[in-house]
Amino acid sequence: MPAYIFFILLSLIFLDTEASNGNCISIKCTHDGAPDIRFPFHVRGQHSQHRGHHDYELHCNNTTTLIHFPSYGDLVVKSISYDVRKLDLIDPKNCIHQVFLNLNLSLTPFRYYYSLKEYSYLNCFVRLSPSFTRVPCLSSSGYHVYTVEPSLSVPDSCKVVRTITVPFRYSPYLSESSFGLGLTWDFLGQQDCEANEVQRWSYMQAEITKLKRIIQGLSEPQFGTEDYMMLYATVYNMCTQNPPYDYSQQLYDKYRETFQD
Ligand SMILES: *[C@@H]1O[C@H](CO)[C@@H](O)[C@H](O)[C@H]1NC(C)=O
Ligand SMILES: *[C@@H]1O[C@H](CO)[C@@H](O)[C@H](O)[C@H]1NC(C)=O
Ligand SMILES: *[C@@H]1O[C@H](CO)[C@@H](O)[C@H](O)[C@H]1NC(C)=O
Repeated sequence: MPAYIFFILLSLIFLDTEASNGNCISIKCTHDGAPDIRFPFHVRGQHSQHRGHHDYELHCNNTTTLIHFPSYGDLVVKSISYDVRKLDLIDPKNCIHQVFLNLNLSLTPFRYYYSLKEYSYLNCFVRLSPSFTRVPCLSSSGYHVYTVEPSLSVPDSCKVVRTITVPFRYSPYLSESSFGLGLTWDFLGQQDCEANEVQRWSYMQAEITKLKRIIQGLSEPQFGTEDYMMLYATVYNMCTQNPPYDYSQQLYDKYRETFQD
């Protein structure tokens, strides 16, 4: 058996586990309760392997996790669900309608998570009856902002400011709690972190199969320098990530299995 095959196998078990730069590493703006930040997000100022079009920057203001949109400003990131690709956001200025009126997601990788419905914003110089939904954070003593279904005929004392699509969490009935300031992402990182790991596993599996075939004398192209580098990097990353993404034990087990085979 060529010596380099042994070298590949041995290199798998003599890896230094101090450095850590894997893409599944998560960090938080503060220890408890704060969302885990990991690929496809990174924190401003932190080194990112995937910097570019495939990840998106968050930042920490003291202990608060924030996301910045040029069209609106900062929004607070309450939680991130990587499995369903969902960001739950809160408006720090406490005016969700201001967000809906200004946030322009068209040049971002994001779109609203919840279903959209058209609403018109009315500006009225008198107060309407309580059956209309007033938006206190956009109103003042001189004018009153209301949200209505676009099909509704506009009262005389009002004019339509804007008609926009607004996301609703469950019902189309207007109430502060039914709005869903949740975003999902489409274009960030082709796979999420876990999908990446699955891909790495199948890559390793394929390489091990190739190795077995070479050892058994079956026809198989030899490992080149590129293959070797790729293998080394993959194994290195799999062993140097923080739990639960540290795969050293599984790799040792696989190595033992392969060797016994
Ligand atoms: C960031 O933190 C500072 C100080 O704690 C505060 O004054 C400021 O309003 C915060 N910014 C946002 C966007 O929350
Ligand atoms: C940062 O947050 C901590 C805990 O909420 C608070 O005690 C501290 O005063 C804050 N610092 C600034 C600069 O806002
Ligand atoms: C959002 O931004 C895009 C690109 O800058 C622009 O074409 C579009 O008109 C904007 N939409 C609104 C509603 O302002």
